Amino acid sequence: MADRSGTAELLTPEDTIALGDSLGRELRAGDVVVLSGPLGAGKTVLAKGIAQALDVEGPVVSPTFVLARVHRARREGAPAMVHVDLYRLLDESSVDLLAELDSLDLDTDLDDAVVVVEWGEGVAERLSDNHLDIRLERCADTDARTAIWQWSRP
Ligand SMILES: Nc1ncnc2c1ncn2[C@@H]1O[C@H](COP(=O)(O)OP(=O)(O)O)[C@@H](O)[C@H]1O
Ligand SMILES: [Mg+2]
Repeated sequence: MADRSGTAELLTPEDTIALGDSLGRELRAGDVVVLSGPLGAGKTVLAKGIAQALDVEGPVVSPTFVLARVHRARREGAPAMVHVDLYRLLDESSVDLLAELDSLDLDTDLDDAVVVVEWGEGVAERLSDNHLDIRLERCADTDARTAIWQWSRP
């Protein structure tokens, strides 16, 4: 693994995809990516970049009407990406994410997948000891975003 943490300035959506792609190359089955930041910050755009690195089936879109979506790997034996959006569960004081995902019958063992969770802060970390936390912030007057990330692996 390269650096355990970093920051980037992302001037365009393409920059955000590229960051997701480069961080995504370090991800392994069983890892959880926790995406945080306000609405429109670029969490879903970043998830597209991660999907590109993992070479999973698309399209990656905001899982607005479903809690989670499974994107299967194109290469045999490679991890699927499970894309979760907890936005609608933000008001729930204590979400048991594992139970929620279990109830969906995703047909994928989470240990065999990379789980990417939008609005996952404070909840998704419990899914795995191995996580990549990425926070995106919007700049006031421009399209630029800033990203701050941190790997936690024992
Ligand atoms: N530098 C940038 N990085 C990411 N998205 C950007 C950027 N500049 C503009 N955008 C736009 O902002 C929106 C981000 O939306 P989205 O990724 O769905 O946000 P979130 O999932 O955080 O709510 C997209 O419409 C995208 O085109
Ligand atoms: Mg989103």
